[in-house]
Amino acid sequence: RTVLVLNGPNLNLLGQRQPEIYGAETLSDVEARCRTEAEAHGLTLAFHQSNAEHALIDWIHAYRVGSAGIVINAGAYTHTSIAILDALNTCEVPIVECHISNVHRREAFRHHSYVSLAATAVMAGFGTHGYVLAVRHLAHLRDARP
Ligand code: DQA
Repeated sequence: RTVLVLNGPNLNLLGQRQPEIYGAETLSDVEARCRTEAEAHGLTLAFHQSNAEHALIDWIHAYRVGSAGIVINAGAYTHTSIAILDALNTCEVPIVECHISNVHRREAFRHHSYVSLAATAVMAGFGTHGYVLAVRHLAHLRDARP
Protein backbone atom coordinates (compact mmCIF):
# COMPACT_ATOMS: atom_id res chain seq x y z
CA ARG A 1 0.00 0.00 0.00
CA THR A 2 1.02 3.54 -0.69
CA VAL A 3 1.11 6.63 1.47
CA LEU A 4 0.83 9.97 -0.32
CA VAL A 5 2.77 12.95 1.04
CA LEU A 6 1.47 16.07 -0.66
CA ASN A 7 3.03 19.54 -0.52
CA GLY A 8 1.45 22.79 -1.60
CA PRO A 9 2.73 26.18 -2.73
CA ASN A 10 6.24 27.47 -1.97
CA LEU A 11 7.35 24.23 -0.35
CA ASN A 12 9.57 23.58 -3.39
CA LEU A 13 11.74 26.34 -1.86
CA LEU A 14 12.14 24.57 1.47
CA GLY A 15 15.68 25.18 2.76
CA GLN A 16 15.88 28.57 1.04
CA ARG A 17 12.52 29.94 2.13
CA GLN A 18 12.52 31.71 5.53
CA PRO A 19 14.90 29.13 7.07
CA GLU A 20 14.42 30.76 10.49
CA ILE A 21 10.82 29.50 10.31
CA TYR A 22 10.98 26.41 8.10
CA GLY A 23 14.54 25.17 8.69
CA ALA A 24 17.48 24.32 6.45
CA GLU A 25 16.33 20.98 5.06
CA THR A 26 15.20 20.81 1.45
CA LEU A 27 12.05 19.09 0.21
CA SER A 28 14.26 16.32 -1.25
CA ASP A 29 15.70 15.76 2.24
CA VAL A 30 12.16 15.47 3.60
CA GLU A 31 11.21 13.08 0.81
CA ALA A 32 14.20 10.83 1.58
CA ARG A 33 13.32 10.73 5.28
CA CYS A 34 9.66 9.97 4.52
CA ARG A 35 10.71 7.19 2.11
CA THR A 36 12.93 5.55 4.75
CA GLU A 37 10.10 5.72 7.29
CA ALA A 38 7.43 4.41 4.87
CA GLU A 39 9.61 1.51 3.71
CA ALA A 40 10.49 0.58 7.30
CA HIS A 41 6.75 -0.02 7.74
CA GLY A 42 6.29 -1.88 4.45
CA LEU A 43 4.64 1.11 2.75
CA THR A 44 5.43 2.66 -0.62
CA LEU A 45 5.88 6.43 -0.70
CA ALA A 46 4.38 8.79 -3.25
CA PHE A 47 5.71 12.31 -2.70
CA HIS A 48 4.53 15.35 -4.66
CA GLN A 49 4.66 19.13 -4.57
CA SER A 50 2.76 21.68 -6.61
CA ASN A 51 2.15 25.39 -6.50
CA ALA A 52 -1.14 24.82 -8.34
CA GLU A 53 -4.37 24.09 -6.50
CA HIS A 54 -5.77 21.88 -9.28
CA ALA A 55 -2.70 19.62 -9.27
CA LEU A 56 -3.04 19.07 -5.51
CA ILE A 57 -6.72 18.21 -5.98
CA ASP A 58 -5.89 15.71 -8.76
CA TRP A 59 -3.40 13.92 -6.48
CA ILE A 60 -5.94 13.79 -3.64
CA HIS A 61 -8.40 12.18 -6.09
CA ALA A 62 -5.79 9.63 -7.16
CA TYR A 63 -5.20 8.43 -3.57
CA ARG A 64 -8.64 9.03 -2.00
CA VAL A 65 -9.53 5.31 -1.94
CA GLY A 66 -7.29 2.31 -1.26
CA SER A 67 -4.12 4.08 -0.14
CA ALA A 68 -2.71 3.92 3.40
CA GLY A 69 -3.55 7.60 3.78
CA ILE A 70 -2.54 11.12 2.88
CA VAL A 71 -0.13 13.49 4.63
CA ILE A 72 -0.84 17.00 3.39
CA ASN A 73 0.98 20.27 3.94
CA ALA A 74 -1.22 22.49 1.79
CA GLY A 75 0.89 25.58 2.54
CA ALA A 76 -1.13 28.77 2.33
CA TYR A 77 -4.01 26.92 0.62
CA THR A 78 -4.66 25.51 4.10
CA HIS A 79 -6.13 28.86 5.04
CA THR A 80 -8.00 29.62 1.80
CA SER A 81 -9.03 26.57 -0.20
CA ILE A 82 -12.55 25.26 0.01
CA ALA A 83 -11.76 23.28 -3.16
CA ILE A 84 -9.01 21.33 -1.36
CA LEU A 85 -11.35 20.79 1.62
CA ASP A 86 -14.01 19.42 -0.75
CA ALA A 87 -11.46 17.05 -2.32
CA LEU A 88 -10.32 15.85 1.14
CA ASN A 89 -13.94 15.26 2.11
CA THR A 90 -14.19 12.67 -0.70
CA CYS A 91 -11.39 10.61 0.89
CA GLU A 92 -12.06 7.22 2.47
CA VAL A 93 -8.52 7.07 3.87
CA PRO A 94 -7.01 8.83 6.91
CA ILE A 95 -5.60 12.31 6.41
CA VAL A 96 -2.82 13.87 8.47
CA GLU A 97 -2.52 17.64 8.15
CA CYS A 98 1.09 18.69 8.57
CA HIS A 99 2.65 22.11 9.16
CA ILE A 100 6.35 22.59 9.71
CA SER A 101 5.82 25.68 11.83
CA ASN A 102 3.46 26.08 14.76
CA VAL A 103 0.81 28.03 12.86
CA HIS A 104 -0.98 28.87 16.12
CA ARG A 105 1.81 31.13 17.35
CA ARG A 106 1.94 33.00 14.04
CA GLU A 107 -0.34 35.52 12.31
CA ALA A 108 -4.08 35.22 13.02
CA PHE A 109 -4.80 34.37 9.36
CA ARG A 110 -2.85 31.12 9.84
CA HIS A 111 -5.00 30.03 12.78
CA HIS A 112 -7.92 28.88 10.67
CA SER A 113 -7.49 25.76 8.55
CA TYR A 114 -9.96 24.41 6.01
CA VAL A 115 -7.84 21.23 5.88
CA SER A 116 -8.47 20.62 9.61
CA LEU A 117 -12.19 20.23 8.88
CA ALA A 118 -11.35 17.00 6.99
CA ALA A 119 -8.21 15.87 8.84
CA THR A 120 -7.96 12.77 11.02
CA ALA A 121 -4.98 14.32 12.84
CA VAL A 122 -3.00 17.55 12.79
CA MET A 123 0.73 18.18 13.24
CA ALA A 124 2.14 21.67 13.68
CA GLY A 125 5.48 22.91 14.97
CA PHE A 126 7.42 19.64 14.75
CA GLY A 127 9.59 21.04 11.98
CA THR A 128 10.23 18.71 9.06
CA HIS A 129 10.29 15.77 11.51
CA GLY A 130 6.49 16.17 11.59
CA TYR A 131 6.28 14.55 8.16
CA VAL A 132 8.13 11.46 9.40
CA LEU A 133 5.87 11.24 12.45
CA ALA A 134 2.80 11.62 10.21
CA VAL A 135 3.93 8.75 7.95
CA ARG A 136 4.56 6.62 11.05
CA HIS A 137 1.07 7.42 12.31
CA LEU A 138 -0.52 6.24 9.04
CA ALA A 139 1.39 2.94 9.40
CA HIS A 140 0.11 2.72 12.97
CA LEU A 141 -3.50 3.30 11.84
CA ARG A 142 -3.13 0.61 9.16
CA ASP A 143 -1.91 -1.85 11.84
CA ALA A 144 -4.72 -0.85 14.22
CA ARG A 145 -7.48 -1.52 11.68
CA PRO A 146 -9.47 -4.75 12.16
C1 DQA B 1 2.97 26.00 6.50
C2 DQA B 1 2.27 27.13 7.27
C3 DQA B 1 1.41 27.96 6.32
O1 DQA B 1 0.75 28.99 7.02
C4 DQA B 1 2.27 28.60 5.25
O2 DQA B 1 1.47 29.31 4.34
C5 DQA B 1 3.12 27.59 4.55
C6 DQA B 1 3.76 26.54 5.32
C7 DQA B 1 3.94 25.21 7.40
O3 DQA B 1 4.39 24.15 6.95
O4 DQA B 1 4.27 25.64 8.52
O5 DQA B 1 3.33 27.68 3.34
O6 DQA B 1 1.98 25.08 6.05
